[in-house]
Amino acid sequence: MTIPFFPPDLFEDDRQVLLDLVHAIGTAPEQRFLLGEHTARFEEALRASLGAADVVACSSGTSALTLVLHALGIGPGDEVVVPAYGCAPLANTVAGLRATPVFADIDPWTMVADPDEVERAISDRTRAVMPAHMFSVMADMPRMREIARRHGVRLVEDSAVAQGGVLDGRPAGTWGEAGVFSFVQVKTFGTAGEGGAVVTMDPELGRAVRSLRNHGQSERFVYPRTGYNSRFDEVLAAFQLHRLPGLPARLERRARIADYYTERFTPLRERGVLPPPPGRNGRCYYVYSLLAEERDELKRYLADRGVESHVYYPLPLPRQSAFTRFAPAGRGWPHAESAARRQLAIPVHPRLTDAQVEHIADTVCAYAHSKERNS
Ligand SMILES: Cc1ncc(COP(=O)(O)O)c(C=O)c1O
Repeated sequence: MTIPFFPPDLFEDDRQVLLDLVHAIGTAPEQRFLLGEHTARFEEALRASLGAADVVACSSGTSALTLVLHALGIGPGDEVVVPAYGCAPLANTVAGLRATPVFADIDPWTMVADPDEVERAISDRTRAVMPAHMFSVMADMPRMREIARRHGVRLVEDSAVAQGGVLDGRPAGTWGEAGVFSFVQVKTFGTAGEGGAVVTMDPELGRAVRSLRNHGQSERFVYPRTGYNSRFDEVLAAFQLHRLPGLPARLERRARIADYYTERFTPLRERGVLPPPPGRNGRCYYVYSLLAEERDELKRYLADRGVESHVYYPLPLPRQSAFTRFAPAGRGWPHAESAARRQLAIPVHPRLTDAQVEHIADTVCAYAHSKERNS
């Protein structure tokens, strides 16, 4: 029996609710499938739980980033500093607005953008910095805020993977002028389809994003600006509202599994397997990511013993063919390169049983000990 990386039974407890919602919304007299009362209630529940000025639900985390960057006026000729290691939307959304992503190297342990590198990447064309939380660790948002303020640039927080994370008492998503969430199935608040949200502390920005997500509309069929179709689905809004009260318990389960892994793996540091830093402050546990000197060997070892693992980002962003045109010749991102060679994510989802968690931890430890004997 293989322990899957993603839970196959993620919505098992809620399946009937989802089917009932499809039926109820599908047969309701108003026939409202997008941006209706469920979306409004969902946005308000998230807004209140975060203490934000506004939350705008939209069609994906990627779209949320585009809406924010567009609302901030980012466009041709502008530069946005993004991490050199991370998901494609970090660079795609900037490039999609005909602006230039400028890649900053990462911290070699936590794999989030290194604030010193972000600052070094700022030029007189920089309009925004866009750090992203990665895997289990939130970016150093206090430093990012300070850097953005000192250089007079906008701060966008890519918190797509970090919903539920808290740093210094402040929730992920509320550190920048705007943050985003992704509701893709595998995220901490994943759903049964696509979705995302913009979180903002700035009501004006919230209004602009709200208009942009629906073609730039200000009122029905009136368009003061060009926009996008990034509307949110009513069935998913109602489903997410139903699942919201269970989120803290699911996050706690992830955090406990991660605490246990980190406790077991910290002694492996000298044996070529490095876990994330311990503690709960600024942690998010979207996935639990190891750095292994012989990453592919560890992956095979785990697979042979029934543990699925994933390599996230085998290439740094500036090395992807799509983005090499934004990679100045001679510029290197050594920590991003190193992470791309060594990163391996193991299952941390809340549906894991204690026995599965123990098997995964035992297997990683056995691998590290076997290495010691062989060397
Ligand atoms: C850091 C980060 N930002 C943005 C996104 C985009 O979210 P979505 O898949 O909902 O478009 C992702 C998705 O994987 C992500 O990991």
